[in-house]
Amino acid sequence: MPIALVILAAGKGTRMNSDLPKVLHPLAAAPLLAHALAAGAAADPERTIVVAGHGAEQVTAALADIDETAQVVVQEDQLGTGHAVAQATPALEGFGGDVIVLYGDTPFIRPQTLHAMLEARQGGADVVVLGFEAAVPGRYGRLILGRDGGLDGIVEAKDASPEQLAVTLCNSGVIAADAGLLMRLVAKIDNDNASGEYYLTDIVALARAAGHACAVVTCDEAETLGINSRAELAGAEAAFQARARAAALDNGATLIAPESVYFAHDTVIGRDVVIGPNVWFGPGVTVESGATINAFCHLEGCHVSRGAIIGPFARLRPGAELSEDVRVGNFVEVKNALVAEGAKINHLSYIGDAEIGEGANIGAGTITCNYDGVMKHRTEIGARAFIGSNTALVAPVRVGRDAMTGSGSVITKDVPDEALAVARADQINKEGLAVRLMTRLRAIKARKQKE
Ligand code: UD1
Ligand code: MG
Repeated sequence: MPIALVILAAGKGTRMNSDLPKVLHPLAAAPLLAHALAAGAAADPERTIVVAGHGAEQVTAALADIDETAQVVVQEDQLGTGHAVAQATPALEGFGGDVIVLYGDTPFIRPQTLHAMLEARQGGADVVVLGFEAAVPGRYGRLILGRDGGLDGIVEAKDASPEQLAVTLCNSGVIAADAGLLMRLVAKIDNDNASGEYYLTDIVALARAAGHACAVVTCDEAETLGINSRAELAGAEAAFQARARAAALDNGATLIAPESVYFAHDTVIGRDVVIGPNVWFGPGVTVESGATINAFCHLEGCHVSRGAIIGPFARLRPGAELSEDVRVGNFVEVKNALVAEGAKINHLSYIGDAEIGEGANIGAGTITCNYDGVMKHRTEIGARAFIGSNTALVAPVRVGRDAMTGSGSVITKDVPDEALAVARADQINKEGLAVRLMTRLRAIKARKQKE
């Protein structure tokens, strides 16, 4: 059965108190909307339609980076969830299959849950609603079950009677239904209710009245968590991190202080990886089995191979590709650089737009001067080269294999294989001058104190 996702993301998110549309606020280094799309990806959708409203331009631009096949439809006025889904009607033209409605501010729906909903559809339910037992039902819609255990209707808290308010089985908002049926039902929704909104939830009563079967699939309340405020966003981040840390430990990584390690939504950590305290992972990081990330490292968009040892206090930026057994030590920044097997960059360096050969040794304080103020240039360092401490490599420049540079050199010309390049002022020794100078300075000071 082909699947289309309709993701509601038009709301203003007033309680975020932000210029950024709510669904673009980051959770685990990806916008909330990306989490909703990732959750929906479990259903292998043929079409993805995002209903945007507030900040639609920003949402459209951000979506291009998340999923270029996703389509945006704009809901000019936010007249309710039913009205929002109705906006997807033209985009669903010619689609025969099931629609799953998700929410851009609800990041934690699990694949298993969507699969259970689709199974319920195959089991004969025409409309399937995702429900949960709420600890505090509050303003959630209540799921009203019939005698046969099927779903009879959904009542919004504002419209509910005291008996209905006593129900603790609540509506997550996520639904699955045949696309054609859903669109016919949505077209029938009116706004005759306490909020004057077009409630998507009304489709259940409409479906029942037309003789369709409706069913509830339940999940854990934590899964349905929607984000409405910065405090809830912080809570969601904490929940994400707790799960990511537990998963890393289960998968065989050692985290010395798990509560101080922050993962991104897509961090990949192999077995027997050791991660020290206070390590931060941005998006796009893979750490292969048996690598060590020492305390206080900051990594994003990089790949760390087996046996590599990073940090403490190292920064790996996008495009840092570290081969097996590489060493990157304290206060070293690596960006857009290929570092071949066994190379060492142990202290106080910047390596950017570079290629470092196998077994090369990059001395303390080495800087690739990659930027001329306008353009970026590459530095190439051959296998087993030895770069002396405090070498400035003015790119574009190439240091050959088995070559050396003298400490403090400013290398502006290519260094041939096996050569030693020294590019610094010659040293001059002036006999006795240190003592004569000090004697004179002390005499001046003594005279001034007498005056
Ligand atoms: C909705 C459900 C409620 C459920 C709750 C779960 C309805 C009528 N009620 O209530 O039963 O318990 O979610 O959180 O559906 N949106 C749009 N366009 C609109 C209106 C909303 O895109 O015109 C989006 C919002 O951005 C938001 C989501 O839909 O992400 C939910 O809308 P909201 O108004 O917050 O519904 P709730 O009152 O939370
Ligand atoms: Mg809400």
